[in-house]
This record gives sequence, C-alpha cells and structure tokens, in this order.
Amino acid sequence: MAEITRYRPDDKRAVEALYRRVFGNDAAEASRLRWEWQYRHNPNNPGHEPEIWIAREGPAIVGQYATMPVKLSVKGREVRGSWGMDVMVAPERQRQGLGEVLFRTWDRNVGASLGLGLSDSSYRLFQKLKWPDVGPVPCLVKPLTRRALRRPNWPLPLNRLVSALTLPIVLIVARTRPLRAEVRLIQRFDDSFTALWDELAPKFDLAVRRDAAYLNWKYVSAPHVRYSIAVLRRNDRNVGYAVYRHLHEPRGRVTLIADFLADPDDEEALRTLLHWVDREARQADSDKIRIFATHAGFRRVLRRSGYFQVKSTVEFVVKINGVDVDSAFYENTDNWHVTLGDSDQDR
Ligand SMILES: CC(C)(COP(=O)(O)OP(=O)(O)OC[C@H]1O[C@@H](n2cnc3c(N)ncnc32)[C@H](O)[C@@H]1OP(=O)(O)O)[C@@H](O)C(=O)NCCC(=O)NCCS
Repeated sequence: MAEITRYRPDDKRAVEALYRRVFGNDAAEASRLRWEWQYRHNPNNPGHEPEIWIAREGPAIVGQYATMPVKLSVKGREVRGSWGMDVMVAPERQRQGLGEVLFRTWDRNVGASLGLGLSDSSYRLFQKLKWPDVGPVPCLVKPLTRRALRRPNWPLPLNRLVSALTLPIVLIVARTRPLRAEVRLIQRFDDSFTALWDELAPKFDLAVRRDAAYLNWKYVSAPHVRYSIAVLRRNDRNVGYAVYRHLHEPRGRVTLIADFLADPDDEEALRTLLHWVDREARQADSDKIRIFATHAGFRRVLRRSGYFQVKSTVEFVVKINGVDVDSAFYENTDNWHVTLGDSDQDR
C-alpha cells in the first residue's frame, strides 16, 4: 500500500521523471521552467514549502498531487483554499485507488479544494468522489475580424463562407468607441490594489483574494508568459484592472483576458477597461478577444460590449471545508468571481 507524505527536496528528480512519463517531454520541460515560481515563490506559501503530496511505495514515487494555495473569500470570510493542479499516478498503478487517496489527503488538509480545467480522468474522479460540480466557467468571445469565427476543424471553404456571412455583424461589434476615463499600463501592482480588493471582496460570494503580493506573483513574475496590465483610474485612485496577453492559435490571433477586477455594481468601470483591451487587441492584430467569467453582472457588461458566450471546456469543481455552506451555495454562482487566471490554466 502506498504511503502519502509531503514533498521533500530530494524527491525532485523522481517527480520530474514521473511527470515526463505521465504528461510527456514537452509538458515536463514546461513544468520544470515554472516549478520554482509556481511552488516555492507563491506568497500564500510563506515557508516556501511546496504544497505537494507524494505517494510512495518503498523508495519509489508512484504519484503526486501538486497544488497552489490561495486565500479564498467565501461570503466575506477568508478560507485557506487550494487549487489542485498537477495530479498524476504512474501509468501501471492507475485505476487502483491511488488517485482517490491523493485527492482525499489533499482535501483533508485544506479549507477549500478547487479544480479548474480538468483532464477527463481527473474530472471523472472528482465526480466519483462527489465534489460539487459548478462548472464550466463561462467563456465569452468578442470577434474583431472576419477570421474570428474560423474553426481549426472546419474545411477552408466552410471557414471562408462563415467569415463572409458574418462580416457585417463583426464590423458592427468591433467598431471602436472612445475611452471615457483614464486607463494606464502598469508594471507592478502597488498596495492600493490590496485596498481595492478589501473594498470589493464582500461583493463576491466566492473569489480568490487578489492582493498586491498575489497579483505580482501571478501576473508580473510568471516565468512562462508575459502579461500586460491595464489599470482604470478615477480621482487619482486605481479602481480596476485587466490582465491580458496576445497569443497565436492555429486559426488566428487571440487576445486573452486572463484576469480582471472592478466593482461589479459599476458597469462603466469594466466597460472602460474592455474598450482599452479592444484597442490593444486591434493594435496587436488579434482576430478576437477571449475571456472567462462566472459573475453574472460582469457577463452582462461583456455581452453589452460585443462579447458572445461560447461553449466552455474549462470545468470547475469546488468543495468548501473551512466554513459551513449549504448545498444551495453551490447552485448559484452568479456572484462568484472566477477567471481563467485563477488557477494555472494559462500555460
Ligand atoms: C487522474 C489520475 C491521477 C487518477 O488516478 P487513479 O489512481 O487512476 O484514480 P483512482 O484509481 O483512485 O480512481 C479511478 C477513478 O477515476 C476516474 N478515472 C481515472 N482514470 C480514468 C480514465 N482514464 N478514464 C475515465 N475515468 C478515469 C474514474 O472515475 C475511475 O473510477 P473507476 O475506476 O471506478 O471507473 C490518473 O488517472 C492520472 O494520472 N491521469 C493522467 C494525468 C492526468 O490526467 N492528470 C490530471 C490533470 S488535471
């Protein structure tokens, strides 16, 4: 029977080898690049001890559950939350109950266990273990050019036809609008963003605490991606932000808004940030802008700003242990603020 204990520094090589066997060489290389930042530099890990559980059989490592601690605001109360990320079991030991032991060990040790963007096998295991399933996180897209609606799995003539037919709508949706407030780009989040978070947190039933230390770690010092950070200012105060980057996909260029924050009762705030991102996306020659958002109020502003809801593949599960919540809590996620940037999906 496997024994589950916390990660030790001398596990590194064996864990890397297992990662390579389960996820392949490219993913293992990418993980090696992120590892120190992801597991040791997280400000919610003050002792710099990676929050990773290892399944051992004698001297061999046969599984791991690597997680990302966050402070989670649940109905105004702070809970020690944890995103489950790189979970794996050695191929010859899968389907024998080891995954379940790893999932349960992790869950027993954290105030809230959260999963985003799951593989088929882990999603099924979460379902088998009856984790509340609240996902997927809604995905919205704003088309900017006639290439926006192309699909990699459609033949070229069909893509051309759809582009031609939808062009008039795209032209209306994508027209530029003036900015009505000051937006500026910043390099780092200062302490005013911690104050902004403290002010807005009570408005969300569930959200990761977005203080300056967390935001800088997540969006400024990530070694594998480079983000732009736009900030909305009013009366010399920072009142919202959007974190985004431009990327190439098989059928075009996309601007991805990884994270954002504004007062959900202040439509104009998010609308202004979105106008800014429109301009940036157009300048970067993007065909569309993509964003993930649970909050119903934010999604309303997005739809009014030219975004359409499309099918999302980002499954979301969450189980709150640290405070009492009833089953109804999981049924209405309209006041939750969850974005793609919250876990480690943007790799
Ligand atoms: C996800 C994973 C860690 C589960 O570990 P495990 O030891 O196989 O899990 P368990 O034996 O405890 O649980 C098995 C249950 O998980 C689900 N499951 C696991 N692998 C599955 C697969 N390939 N297809 C469908 N369901 C699967 C099923 O619900 C299964 O129950 P069943 O055997 O009664 O049908 C393991 O499958 C794995 O390493 N997968 C590859 C890496 C991966 O996808 N990681 C998740 C990244 S988000």
